[in-house]
Amino acid sequence: MRNDEIESELDFVASIPHININAFCLSEDTARVFQEVASDRRLSRVNFAIHMGDINAAIEFYQSGVTPALIFLEFETDRDELMEALSRMADVCDESTKVVLIGQVNDVFFYRSLMKQGINEYIVSPINPRQTVHVIASLYSDIDRSLGRVVSFLGSKGGVGSSTIAHNSGWVLSKKFSKNIIISDLDLFFGTVGLNFNQEVVQGVPDAVYSPERQDAMFLDRLLIKHDSDIGLFATPARLSNNPDLSEDSYEKILDLLRKSVSFVILDLPHLWSSWIKSVFLQSDDIVLVIEPELASLRNGKDLIEMLRKLRPNDPLPHVVFNKVDMPKRPEISVDELSDALGLEPITSIEFDPYSFGTATNDGQMISELTGQVKSKEDFIRISRVLTGRLEIKEKKHNILSLLREKILNKK
Ligand SMILES: Nc1ncnc2c1ncn2[C@@H]1O[C@H](COP(=O)(O)OP(=O)(O)OP(=O)(O)O)[C@@H](O)[C@H]1O
Ligand SMILES: [Mg+2]
Repeated sequence: MRNDEIESELDFVASIPHININAFCLSEDTARVFQEVASDRRLSRVNFAIHMGDINAAIEFYQSGVTPALIFLEFETDRDELMEALSRMADVCDESTKVVLIGQVNDVFFYRSLMKQGINEYIVSPINPRQTVHVIASLYSDIDRSLGRVVSFLGSKGGVGSSTIAHNSGWVLSKKFSKNIIISDLDLFFGTVGLNFNQEVVQGVPDAVYSPERQDAMFLDRLLIKHDSDIGLFATPARLSNNPDLSEDSYEKILDLLRKSVSFVILDLPHLWSSWIKSVFLQSDDIVLVIEPELASLRNGKDLIEMLRKLRPNDPLPHVVFNKVDMPKRPEISVDELSDALGLEPITSIEFDPYSFGTATNDGQMISELTGQVKSKEDFIRISRVLTGRLEIKEKKHNILSLLREKILNKK
């Protein structure tokens, strides 16, 4: 399979289940790739062990123990020796264990003879992380092109407008880009999905997260508010009595189920940091970070981008939207300075427009439903174009002047 085909299929990988995987590597380079594979977000439930050694070391290792769900074996021996070692390997392997070989021979007849021998897959070295994740996914999870994309919206500070932008972007995705969507409100205390869509919310997310035993497609469907034929709201009746202690995997199964029924699941995240939010990030295909042009928001934004870079090493960086730009009388960091400091070009910068945003909120409408010319209507179209892959935002190239300015400022 070509690399670009692998890239596009990786977006449709349902979470890989809780399994054990072992890798036996001959070179440091291969072991390094497996370290990256082990930290891939799609494998967050997998228990991964990396060993240095050849097939004989693996045979020795499993003499006295059970074999894991999947074993990767790197080899350098000739074919006869390999076949002989593989038949000894078969003696120590449980029947359910799958084996993937890594070697340098690039020959289709060799590949076929390995498949006949019962090997589950063969990868020609040097291996790379995304290709290896793809192999694991094809053996242990569904690659289902109808799975919806999960997009998380997060503010770099409270009140920056992340919920408003999540709801408006979702609305535009559905109405202008013909996508069916679910918007899910994960702010269990102060959620605003109901208010912004003018819907009364009596049940929703809390009923599902606090009753893990009832989580199935039918139950979730009953909790969903059908705003119209293309927009489902999985909302939260904002109640201060909701229990804040969610376990790490509270939303995991719900998300797996939601993304099976629509093309986009928009997650409106609260501005807080906890293990369950981290796990939601691991399940998200895209993350949109909303930042206001002021210092605390910029600092938090930088920290969040750095954290996400580490959390999702094999995925693109989050998208950034600047909001409430050009607020009268506020001394602001300019859009150029913001993007230089973050090292990312924003999808767009939405101007501070209290009249339009206030009117929309008061009337329970979306910005795009307001009559007349409203500048930010275009911003939401731009965000949707990026989320549907119709527009690519290039990574920020460091501007030489700003680098010089930074150097001079740091010297002072
Ligand atoms: N560009 C804008 N111009 C003017 N007002 C805006 C703009 N964007 C959002 N707002 C307003 O800012 C307020 C806060 O927005 P919102 O609730 O979406 O923020 P949030 O980041 O989700 O906050 P929280 O931290 O409470 O979740 C709302 O009243 C919203 O209408
Ligand atoms: Mg919010």
